[in-house]
Amino acid sequence: MKAIVQDRYGSADVLELRDIEDPVVGEDEVLVRVRAAGAGPDVWHFMTGRPFIARPVIGFRGPKERVRGWDVAGTVEALGANVTAFEVDDEVMGEARGSFAEVAVAEADKLVRKPARLSFEEAAAVPVSGVTALQALRKGQVRPGQSVLVVGASGGVGTLAVQIAKELGARVTGMASTGKLELVRSIGADDVIDYTREDFTDGSRRWDVIIDTAGRRPLRKLGRALTPKGSLVIVGGDGGGRWTGGFFRGMLRGPLLSLFVGQKLGGLTSKLNQEDLQAVADLVEAGDVTPIVDRTFDLVEAADALRYLEQGHPRGKVVVTV
Ligand SMILES: NC(=O)c1ccc[n+]([C@@H]2O[C@H](COP(=O)([O-])OP(=O)(O)OC[C@H]3O[C@@H](n4cnc5c(N)ncnc54)[C@H](OP(=O)(O)O)[C@@H]3O)[C@@H](O)[C@H]2O)c1
Repeated sequence: MKAIVQDRYGSADVLELRDIEDPVVGEDEVLVRVRAAGAGPDVWHFMTGRPFIARPVIGFRGPKERVRGWDVAGTVEALGANVTAFEVDDEVMGEARGSFAEVAVAEADKLVRKPARLSFEEAAAVPVSGVTALQALRKGQVRPGQSVLVVGASGGVGTLAVQIAKELGARVTGMASTGKLELVRSIGADDVIDYTREDFTDGSRRWDVIIDTAGRRPLRKLGRALTPKGSLVIVGGDGGGRWTGGFFRGMLRGPLLSLFVGQKLGGLTSKLNQEDLQAVADLVEAGDVTPIVDRTFDLVEAADALRYLEQGHPRGKVVVTV
């Protein structure tokens, strides 16, 4: 099969289109014929091997998994002996090992049926970002009537977080740069903030929950934009340094600071599971949530997709088509 492979960490130049052996399917796994694969910052981390703190897991000198890509949408090509939930030719979406390829292997419990109203390209935008958005809002304990600020509302996670927060009954403010405010309004945000013109941390407005996906603003500033008992959920934000990538800001400093203030400040490490993916798929199938695809790139152009992502300003999700 053709796949995007890398032997060492580095810039997008390390990604090569090669002919390699088809992967072998385990008993609890599914072989997916890939139609589209999502490209997000997660792929960038595996490509560059940064932050270094991740290397004990992903490989010290080079990536243990040579084929890039996680998010997948495609059709079932073959089933492991124990898999009964799917049939050959089912249209599915989820998380697979090495989805920048003609076929990829997924654990059966990391897949769900693709919502019929979505194209494969749209479906590939959903799994990692959708589950992350859902788990972040859940961690923030968002309740109907609460005010939620989504920082980075125009990105892969942010566009889904805005829509899911609305479905949870929240009043949602989406923050983005000037050219993307219309997009953020169009997906249902009640209010928008242009971060290039307005400092939302000046204390004049406060939210019950802040979902922080971008910008890496200092915790004390974000705390000023929270209600006294509010919750900050740090999902990401690139540029946190090559060693830790800002890991400790959400996982250590936030929880520590929470001991001294009434607010809950903490980070999220999302983990895809079938139940949460199905919950997001149901919202999509019902027409309540629609993934936003920015640009698509052919498999052969996967490196260009990563170069585009590296600029840090996608409008929704970038997708690689196969
Ligand atoms: N914790 C987890 O488990 C988990 C899971 C998935 C992703 N993540 C992380 O979450 C982050 C977001 O992921 P993503 O897929 O949504 O990324 P993305 O698609 O690249 O979107 C990032 C968004 O950030 C906005 N942005 C850039 N600079 C900003 C600033 N200074 N202030 C406010 N917004 C700014 C950009 O919008 P503009 O063009 O309008 O600036 C862009 O739309 C990444 O760091 C990723 O690694 C974490």
